Amino acid sequence: MHIFHGQDRDRQKSRLSPSPDDRELHNPKTRIVLTENTMIQIQLPQKEIAGVPLRNHLLLAAGILGTTGASLKRMLSLGAGGVVTKSIGPVPIPGHHGPALVPIDGGLINAMGLPNPSKDFITEISPLAGEPVIVSIFGGTPQEFGEVASWFPDALAFELNLSCPHAEGYGAAIGVNPRIVRECTEIVKTYNKPVWVKLTPNVTDIKEIGKAAEEGGADALVAINTVKAMRISTGARRPVLGNTFGGLSGKAIFPIAVRSIYDLYDTVNIPIIGCGGVSTADNVLEMMMAGASAVEIGSAVYDSINVFSEIARDLYAEDGIPAEEIVGCAHV
Ligand SMILES: Cc1cc2nc3c(=O)[nH]c(=O)nc-3n(C[C@H](O)[C@H](O)[C@H](O)COP(=O)(O)O)c2cc1C
Repeated sequence: MHIFHGQDRDRQKSRLSPSPDDRELHNPKTRIVLTENTMIQIQLPQKEIAGVPLRNHLLLAAGILGTTGASLKRMLSLGAGGVVTKSIGPVPIPGHHGPALVPIDGGLINAMGLPNPSKDFITEISPLAGEPVIVSIFGGTPQEFGEVASWFPDALAFELNLSCPHAEGYGAAIGVNPRIVRECTEIVKTYNKPVWVKLTPNVTDIKEIGKAAEEGGADALVAINTVKAMRISTGARRPVLGNTFGGLSGKAIFPIAVRSIYDLYDTVNIPIIGCGGVSTADNVLEMMMAGASAVEIGSAVYDSINVFSEIARDLYAEDGIPAEEIVGCAHV
């Protein structure tokens, strides 16, 4: 044991409770300013990404203007390289009672509760045959996932919503269990179409869930769905959302999405589709450097319906580099 005397003890004391000045002196923290490198421009995709012929690397995320065939078609005409439908489940549900959407600094919290028309949705997407439309589906069991997938024999690809944080018995409620994630993926994979599995960040280790989806035969992982969150009205002394809890999306979750993609890229050998807070071309490049082969955009559509063409204008150049050159390049 070391016994402190005189000067020694004083030094130890100051080490335990440094003044703010000492802290700066002995443990300087560099204040990093993130540099945006929009100097990099990339080429349009030259081949399919995760089994889907995308027009560019920017897809409409599930649940944003994706409930009708007309709105999906409109987003394609406004520059989306592909669109993901609203998540479709085994029975029609109206969703949670309101308020269901709360704007916050840097994002939104939603607790829509997966409202969807179930099987009736078939008529919405049949006129879109041949377009890059990915059908998002959900169920409470692997069998229900299989049943919903069977309604869409013409789907180009499926995205499995195993990640919504505010629908009891669905989404993240089962997407936190690696065995169930694997079984849901296996059953939908029997339809011989590309299967993308959308993951929740609300887990201790997203890598474990990503690995389970890969083992089940997933063609890609989508990272991430919303981050479980809530607000309380101090005036009303009650939670703001009708459902109490919801999912945070938008710019606020971008670093969580980047970290999740980075983690998954080190773990799986299938493509990763980034999602969460993307609103600029530089965000797209950053997600690609973390390991994303393409990205989905949701909340930013509420700020600008033209977000796809605005990002594409900055992101693409005929003499740009192939995107594959930067995918995962940040890994050391
Ligand atoms: C209003 C709203 C509805 C959503 N509905 C769905 C949905 O039906 N299925 C799903 O997988 N994700 C859904 N999401 C999550 C988004 O697809 C996306 O994962 C999330 O918002 C993060 O991306 P963003 O920050 O670009 O919005 C929804 C998000 C919002 C804001």
